[in-house]
Amino acid sequence: MKKFNVGIIGATGMVGQRFATLLENHPWFNVTALAASPRSAGKKYQDAVKKWVMATPMPEKMKDMIILDATSDIEKIAGMVDFVFCAVDMNKDEIKALEEKYAKAECPVVSNNSAHRHTPDVPMILPELNADHAKIIPAQRKRLGTKRGFIAVKPNCSLQGYVPALFPLHKEFGVKDVLVCTYQAISGAGKTFETFPEIIDNVIPYIGGEEEKSEKEPLKIWGKINGDVIEDATSPNFTAQCIRVPVSDGHMGAVFARFEKKPTKEQILNIWKNYAGRAQELELPSAPKHFLNYFEEDNMPQTKLNRNLENGMAISIGRLREDSQYDYKFVCLSHNTLRGAAGGAVLMAELLCAEGYMDR
Ligand SMILES: NC(=O)c1ccc[n+]([C@@H]2O[C@H](COP(=O)([O-])OP(=O)(O)OC[C@H]3O[C@@H](n4cnc5c(N)ncnc54)[C@H](OP(=O)(O)O)[C@@H]3O)[C@@H](O)[C@H]2O)c1
Repeated sequence: MKKFNVGIIGATGMVGQRFATLLENHPWFNVTALAASPRSAGKKYQDAVKKWVMATPMPEKMKDMIILDATSDIEKIAGMVDFVFCAVDMNKDEIKALEEKYAKAECPVVSNNSAHRHTPDVPMILPELNADHAKIIPAQRKRLGTKRGFIAVKPNCSLQGYVPALFPLHKEFGVKDVLVCTYQAISGAGKTFETFPEIIDNVIPYIGGEEEKSEKEPLKIWGKINGDVIEDATSPNFTAQCIRVPVSDGHMGAVFARFEKKPTKEQILNIWKNYAGRAQELELPSAPKHFLNYFEEDNMPQTKLNRNLENGMAISIGRLREDSQYDYKFVCLSHNTLRGAAGGAVLMAELLCAEGYMDR
């Protein structure tokens, strides 16, 4: 695979820092541009970052890179890179406009932001599940009037355990109703224990906007391309409660599911054991070798013990058992800032490169 020059828009933020560490030694991607708000523009990366919150040090070769202005340097950035990763803290309309400007400057955008998740010709890809949604990109390019430029987004972090677990079951047995409670880490709010002391010895039963995303976004992932749009699926029917818990990284989900045709426990375990998606087929550099991992022990998976499985890119599942109201219940775990944020976006970018969407 040839090397691609990439930019990080929002490089100083929490997700931006994660991109910087994931891209430091990436076999295909070479970081040539860093951008953030006008507050950071003109400064060296090491001076612009208020607090480096990654476990590994700031990549040496990025320390002295000069931060560009994410909004006023678009043409310049587009000339320096093959595509950009974007994770910025701005309002939804501003993000929508910003990402379209990059796309229209013929610079594809791989986005962590939620702003375009429900734009009907913007693919929202989880590479193991709906890699085929990339086929909507020519229609989006037609609307934008671009040759190369487009926007692709990754789904919300909250659903990255239960949607992968249910997706292959739906194909075989038709998942009808799903009730899920998520127990979400504080890094999902861009926080650490230092910056979020209220969460210590506490549980907060509200995460703004998260329940809507957890119920609605799965239907786009299950959707189908029809003409120039991706049409959302009408089932399964999801209901969700999302709760913030005192955990640094890793979102746990407790799931109850009802099927059209109830499978046996062995059938479910067999599907999970053997499931592989397009990311595994293409052997993408960030793809976990084994995507869905079932733990037999009653007290597994645990957030602290299992979140880093396969560099935080694999899904852990456990406690599958029959339920008296639904057909089955189980728990699942995913790393929210790796699989659920920057890692998922890097994997999606690898997919788009491997499928030729980033070619010049
Ligand atoms: N944290 C997570 O786990 C997570 C997961 C999934 C998705 N996301 C999404 O990713 C995005 C970033 O989240 P985050 O946690 O990394 O936020 P963050 O730590 O607050 O970082 C925000 C970034 O946006 C930049 N920014 C702010 N205002 C800007 C402007 N007017 N123009 C250009 N850049 C601007 C900041 O630059 P300065 O440093 O110069 O201010 C910084 O680089 C958000 O949309 C969030 O919803 C976060």
